[in-house]
Amino acid sequence: MFRSHILVCGGTGCASNNSKGIIAKFEQLLKEKNLEKDVQTIMTGCFGLCAVGPVVIVYPEGAFYSNVKVDDVDEIVNEHIIKGRLVTRLLHREDDKNIAVKALSDTNFYKKQTRVALRNCGVINPENIDEYIAYDGYQALIKCLTELSKQEIVDIIKKSGLRGRGGGGFPTGLKWQFTKDAVGDEKYVCVNADEGDPGAFMDRSVLEGDPHAVLEAMAIAGYAIGANKGYIYVRAEYPIAVDRCKIALEQAKEYGLLGKNILGTGFDFDLEIRLGAGAFVCGEETALMTSIEGNRGEPRPRPPFPAIKGLFGKPTLLNNVETYANIPQIILKGAEWFSSMGTEKSKGTKVFALGGKIVNTGLVEIPMGTTLREIIEDIGGGIPKGKKFKAAQTGGPSGGCIPAAHFDIPIDYDNLIAIGSMMGSGGMIVMDEDNCMVDIAKFFLEFTVEESCGKCTPCRIGTRRLLEMLEKITSGKGEMSDLDTMEKLCYYIKDNSLCGLGQTAPNPVLSTIRYFRDEYVAHIVDKKCPAHVCKSLLKYSITDACKGCTKCARQCPVGAITGKVKELHVIDQNKCIKCGVCMDSCSFKAIVRE
Ligand SMILES: Cc1cc2nc3c(=O)[nH]c(=O)nc-3n(C[C@H](O)[C@H](O)[C@H](O)COP(=O)(O)O)c2cc1C
Ligand code: SF4
Ligand code: SF4
Repeated sequence: MFRSHILVCGGTGCASNNSKGIIAKFEQLLKEKNLEKDVQTIMTGCFGLCAVGPVVIVYPEGAFYSNVKVDDVDEIVNEHIIKGRLVTRLLHREDDKNIAVKALSDTNFYKKQTRVALRNCGVINPENIDEYIAYDGYQALIKCLTELSKQEIVDIIKKSGLRGRGGGGFPTGLKWQFTKDAVGDEKYVCVNADEGDPGAFMDRSVLEGDPHAVLEAMAIAGYAIGANKGYIYVRAEYPIAVDRCKIALEQAKEYGLLGKNILGTGFDFDLEIRLGAGAFVCGEETALMTSIEGNRGEPRPRPPFPAIKGLFGKPTLLNNVETYANIPQIILKGAEWFSSMGTEKSKGTKVFALGGKIVNTGLVEIPMGTTLREIIEDIGGGIPKGKKFKAAQTGGPSGGCIPAAHFDIPIDYDNLIAIGSMMGSGGMIVMDEDNCMVDIAKFFLEFTVEESCGKCTPCRIGTRRLLEMLEKITSGKGEMSDLDTMEKLCYYIKDNSLCGLGQTAPNPVLSTIRYFRDEYVAHIVDKKCPAHVCKSLLKYSITDACKGCTKCARQCPVGAITGKVKELHVIDQNKCIKCGVCMDSCSFKAIVRE
C-alpha cells in the first residue's frame, strides 16, 4: 500500500518534453531516500492539457503541477513528498488570481467535460493490464461471453445510438448488424488508427493512454459478428501508440483474454498490428484494407461495402479507435446511460483535439450538443493575446470553417453538416483575426493535392486546378470569375470522385467562400489580404516617423533597406521578401504594412 502516487503524463506531447526523464528522476530520488515502498511513480496517458505539459499530479492531495522540468523533481520530492508542503510555484493556475490547489476535475478545462472514451487516459498506467482490470477492464468482454447472446450485444450497441467517430457518423450498431448477418467462412474486425488529418491526435492519445479498451472492444465485436481475427491499423509515425498496443496485446494474451479459448468459453480471437506508412488516403476504409492486404493503399469502389466484402474479400467490421473505446462502457453501463448524453440524433460524447489560436491546446471530450462557445471560451480558455475569434475548422481537409455567427450552435453530426462543415474525426483548429481564410483553404487544398492517390481524374486533376486558382488569388492575379469557376469545379470534384477524399476535398474552399466571400473579394478586387498573411499582397514601407536609427537596415536579411544615419530610410520593394523583421524591430513604429 503506497501513501502517495505520483502520476506523470507519458503521452506524446509530454514525452516530447522529457516526461520520461522526469519519471526516471522521481524513481531515482525515491530510491535514494528509501521511499520506493511508500510512494509510487506511475506513467499515464494524456491528461488532455497538452499546452501546459509535462503534467505531474500527486495524490492523495491531487496537486496538479504543470510545465514540470527534470530539475523541479528534487523540490517536489523534498517539499511535497517528504515535508508535506505543496510546491506552489509549480501548481497549475488557470488565471493569475487562482493559486489554490485544484483537483483536475475542478479546473475550467475539465468541468464541462465528460470523459467516456478518455476515461482512463491520465488515470492508469497503459502498460499495466492490472491497472486496466482494476478499473473494470475486460468486465464487459466477460459479460458478453458469459451473459449475452451475439444479437443482444448488437442490439445494445444499436440502442445506444453510438455513431462512428471516424468521420462519417454511420450508426455503429447497424454496421455490426450488417457484418454479423453477412455470410462468410471467415470474418475480420479492424480498427482504424490511421488518423491522418492535420491537427488530429485523439486516436493516438486513446491508444497511448488506454490501449486495452480498444482491444477489449475489438474482442467483443469479434464475438458479436462471428470473427476470430482482427487487425490494428496504426500509422508508423505513432511509435508510442504502437509500442503500447504491442505491450497490451502480449499482456492480454498472457492473461487469456485474447488468443485461443478465451476464458474457457471456446471463443478464439487474435489481433495483429499493421503499420501504415502515413498516407492520408489509407484512412479511407477500402484503401486501409487494400493496404493491410499488402498492396498499394488505393480505394476501391463501394458497393460492395466492407461489411459484405472487405479484407481479403471477407465480411469485415471496421471502426475507429474512439468508436471502440466507447463500447466496453456501453456494455457495462447500458444503452440508456449512453443515449442519455448528447442530442436527439448524436448520442454520447465526442473527443476533440483543440489546436490553433486557443489557450488550452489539448484533448477535450464533451457531450454532443455542447456549443462551440463552451468549447472555445470555457474549456479552451479563449483566444490568446485578447485577439478576436474568426472561425473554427472542424473535420480537417474534409471539413469546413465555422464562423463566429454559429458560435452557439450545439455541436453534433447533423448541425455541423447543415452549416457546411463536418464532425470529421475530431480535429478542431481555432483561428483568429490574424488568419487569412483564403490561405486556410489553400493550406487544406495543398494537403489534399499532396495526398490524393491519383486513381481517379476528378480528384487527381481537379484538386490541382482548384489549388492553382487559389494560388492565383493569393498572389494578386485573381479575377472575380474565378470564384464561380472554383465553385463549379468544387461540385464537379465532389460528385465525380471515387472516394471520400476527393468527395470532400473541396469543402474547405466551399465553406470559406460561403462565409468569408468578402476576404476573397478583397484579394481579387482590392489586391489586399485583410489579415496580412498572403505575402504577394503585402507592402512594407517606411513613414516620416523614421529617425534614421539604422536598426531596421541592420536587421533586414536581404539588405533591402538603405538610408544614412539620422535620415529617412527607404525599402527597395524589388528586394523585400516581406518577412516583417524590420517592422518588429523599429522602436519608433515608423514601418507600416499595407
Ligand atoms: C480520405 C479519408 C481518410 C479517412 N481517415 C480516417 C482515419 O484516419 N480514421 C478513421 O477512423 N476513419 C477515417 N476515415 C473514415 C473511414 O473510411 C471509415 O468510415 C471509418 O474508419 C469507420 O469507422 P467508424 O464507423 O467507427 O467511424 C477516412 C475516410 C476518408 C475518405
Ligand atoms: S478520390 Fe482521390 S484519393 Fe480517392 S480514389 Fe480518387 S484520386 Fe484517389
Ligand atoms: S520586410 Fe523583411 S525583407 Fe522587407 S525590408 Fe523589412 S526586413 Fe527587409
